[in-house]
Amino acid sequence: MTAEANPPDLIPAPRSTERGAGTDFTADARTTLYAGPGTGTTERWLRSVVGPALGLPLPPGETENAENSLTLLVDETLEPEAYRLEVVGGRGVEIRGGSGAGVFWGAQTLRQLLGPEAFRRAPAGPGAARALAARVIEDRPRFGWRGMMLDVARHFTHKTDVLRCLDLLAAHKLNVFHFHLTDDQGWRVEIKRHPKLTEVGAWRHRTKWGHRFSELWDEKPYGGYYTQDDIREIVAYAAERHITVVPEIDVPGHSQAAISAYPELGNTDVVDTSALTPWDTWGINPNVLAPTESTLRFYEGVLEEILDLFPAETSPFVHIGGDECPKDQWKRSATAQARIAELGVGDEDGLQSWFIRHFDTWLTARGRRLIGWDEILEGGLAPGAAVSSWRGYAGGVEAAESGHDVVMCPEQQVYLDFRQADGPDEPMPIGYVRTLEDVYRFDPVPPGLSPEAEAHILGAQANVWTEVIQERSRFDYQVFPRLAAFAETVWSALPAPGERDYAEFEGRMATHYRRLDALGVDYRPPGGPLPWQKRPGVTGFPREGAPPNV
Ligand code: ACM
Repeated sequence: MTAEANPPDLIPAPRSTERGAGTDFTADARTTLYAGPGTGTTERWLRSVVGPALGLPLPPGETENAENSLTLLVDETLEPEAYRLEVVGGRGVEIRGGSGAGVFWGAQTLRQLLGPEAFRRAPAGPGAARALAARVIEDRPRFGWRGMMLDVARHFTHKTDVLRCLDLLAAHKLNVFHFHLTDDQGWRVEIKRHPKLTEVGAWRHRTKWGHRFSELWDEKPYGGYYTQDDIREIVAYAAERHITVVPEIDVPGHSQAAISAYPELGNTDVVDTSALTPWDTWGINPNVLAPTESTLRFYEGVLEEILDLFPAETSPFVHIGGDECPKDQWKRSATAQARIAELGVGDEDGLQSWFIRHFDTWLTARGRRLIGWDEILEGGLAPGAAVSSWRGYAGGVEAAESGHDVVMCPEQQVYLDFRQADGPDEPMPIGYVRTLEDVYRFDPVPPGLSPEAEAHILGAQANVWTEVIQERSRFDYQVFPRLAAFAETVWSALPAPGERDYAEFEGRMATHYRRLDALGVDYRPPGGPLPWQKRPGVTGFPREGAPPNV
């Protein structure tokens, strides 16, 4: 064996790869698949996804490591998500994983080794034979939380595209899907005991076209939601791919769609909530939930159904939002002020904290953990709460230093709805300019964190808000190729702070673009948008207070 200076164009890069001296192994129509105990998800995935792409039927094998075979084994001496992939010259491939998940991540690597054609759904040309160089790859993730958040409220992602998104996460060894299901502009999950949440709350009359300062409107009704069976299908599909799902029900702000459906949820003593409809534009909305016992009971009912739809095994965390809750209505509401006095919480921040603490206790009693945006630090963090640090690193640092778990997702670094260049060609640009290289240089662990606090950084996630992402091709354009760079920041080891070699990554991306082509992903090409990807009508605006590109 000789160590390879550069991994064979794998993304994310593995810990180590070594070339064997022996001959290659060639997979062909007679190659068998032996799946040891606990490797069923990978067995099914190889036979239903990779085999058909290459015309390899992969009949079941009788014994491990037979001639001309693929072998999948759980080996508990490895860390749960770690794997060891060996191409045994002339004989076959063995993937050992510390758990079913480790085996599955090893199989993602095998697909990359099999070439871009392995990313198609059926063979695009002749020849099922696939030569693999004799090699050993040893690999494990840097972080346990490697996520992406998708906002399906501002624009709705059809179920089939959610499933496609889960396939794309798996292909990049990402293992958390944060599902932003509710917001001012739409409520997207069927709740049986409160049917108007989707009958009313899932539909808006029209939609702002572009960023919030745009003067353009799409004057047609818009909406959609997932039935409970759709949600169960999504959760099961994710579980087959070793992806946990974090459902988000955003409270007490970002709630206009819910208040439109049930006006009594709002601050009725200061606003005529019966006149509200799901919001047609973007930004921070003043219509927040009333801090009453009946609001709490309503959302407990919602969450009971959410816990049933998202079982504890695959959804240990439930996200309750907590971001961008303007306090103006609570300041003016006699009911809210009486509540502050009665609870002795001091002020409106205390009220928000009381709201979040209530659901922290409620979820903890049901065996789940609460996670919320970093605003939940204001007024005191609930005891068991974890924090999604989005307004930079600061909230995450504060939470981690005080012993709370943190997922880093600073908007300055990993908001993938933000534009990728500041040229006039970017389609409907918003936010900071963040290039592929900027995302590649993201580090979930900020400098100066104490070792104790660092242990509380569960990992990171890229967030995909959809105000300007109306459909699949725009999703692809915003998310790729940057999600490939992000995947490397959370999976691959960091040699030393600041030491990632972007030029080397770009070299590997040449192959990865061919994989994305085979998958049919409309990524942003390195040279800038293709003519059809440019969109007329809305010019860009810089993020307030932000230098053009920092
Ligand atoms: C957020 O971007 N409001 C979490």
